Amino acid sequence: MSDTGVEPARPGEAEAVRLDATDPGHRHLFHLPPAGGGRYPEAAYLAGNSLGLQPRATRGELLADLDAWGRFGVEGHLEAARPWLPYHESLTAPAARLVGALPGETVVMNSLTVNLHLLMVSFYRPAGERTRIVIEDSAFPSDSYAVRSQARFHGLDPDRAVVRLTPRPGEDTLRTEDVTAFLAAEGHTVALVLLGGVNYLTGELMDIPAITAAGRTAGTVVGWDLAHAAGNVVLALHDWDVDFAAWCSYKYLNSGPGALAGVFVHERHHGDEGLPRFEGWWSTAATTRFEMAPVSRPPATVDAWQVSNPPIFAMGPVRTSLELFDSVGMPALRERSLRLTGYLERLLDEVCVRRPLTVITPREPRRRGSQLSVRFGAGSASELTKRLRHEHGVIADAREPDVVRFAPVPLYSTYHDCWRVADALAATVPEVAR
Ligand SMILES: Cc1ncc(COP(=O)(O)O)c(C=O)c1O
Repeated sequence: MSDTGVEPARPGEAEAVRLDATDPGHRHLFHLPPAGGGRYPEAAYLAGNSLGLQPRATRGELLADLDAWGRFGVEGHLEAARPWLPYHESLTAPAARLVGALPGETVVMNSLTVNLHLLMVSFYRPAGERTRIVIEDSAFPSDSYAVRSQARFHGLDPDRAVVRLTPRPGEDTLRTEDVTAFLAAEGHTVALVLLGGVNYLTGELMDIPAITAAGRTAGTVVGWDLAHAAGNVVLALHDWDVDFAAWCSYKYLNSGPGALAGVFVHERHHGDEGLPRFEGWWSTAATTRFEMAPVSRPPATVDAWQVSNPPIFAMGPVRTSLELFDSVGMPALRERSLRLTGYLERLLDEVCVRRPLTVITPREPRRRGSQLSVRFGAGSASELTKRLRHEHGVIADAREPDVVRFAPVPLYSTYHDCWRVADALAATVPEVAR
């Protein structure tokens, strides 16, 4: 019996129900939206790569922080059960474990694009012939706008300063060897490589260590946008010698819409007084903060990149989520992600073969996370997504013009959710002669 309470009846459904019984995940820890259409009470939620679901624990934890404000007023900075002054420090160690960093290398603050700008203030320093920023052509638009505006900020023409790496003709994803070959040939003109760890559109997991190593050999700084990688794949940022990275917490990290974001700066950059940085009172070492001195004395940790005092009510959901990741562990989640995603891939292959649907995500499991992207060749991806939503209770998302993204998230997605995706696609997209 599935968690939906519906008797398995249709081809393949019994298998999905059986797999859920043997590999159940942690769905009970989350709120599921109602289906609002189709045969099942709960939505099949495959959009956790866009906005993760709400952990059941979040509400109570958030209310406890809110109550502390009511009870303590300003004294909550020190007196609250989770005092506000050092609150952000409680997120540091779990965030570091999540991305494979030392505790002093991660901090939770601001939002993703803001953090990318703050990091580029330090790490994009065009000089001489080394002026270019390398991104992927299918970078999320916010990253593209950010790097173009950084180039303009330095008085450069963004059309010349920003290099957009494209896949080979007829291919959808970048090959690592093409990226590293580019860096070997032209790296001396590159000031910064800023790529998505997992591409938002195709779901491709880049070879972060290989590209980072190639960038460093070429003498360029290498930063990563890990919006779609954090909480999705196992990362080892410190050991991979990544210069910096940033990620949001509202996708796989389930910390709520617009949630606070994470930052990594490798320890070899800490305490470097030659690095420019935008500062505020949270850039100075905590021990000096209330000396009210006119000149900051930043700590030799990533905390030096903080600017303002953190929003406590926004930190609570990130803390709750990170505790969940700590208790389950990324390696176990990745294992379940491989099983779920492989299962969805098999079902999609059966459906796609007779329909104008093509999986564009890499087929090798090591080259992808939880997301499978499907190109729809016979109409609007948005219209298809709406029909899946309203006729079948399947929540996925579209990226215009023609891509639909499905993310079976190992914390809460089920095999039955995956089965519902394939079943809904089969019912919605007519077969064609191929
Ligand atoms: C890869 C990537 N980068 C950047 C962003 C923008 O994030 P924010 O609006 O939180 O700055 C997103 C948002 O989905 C994203 O997917």
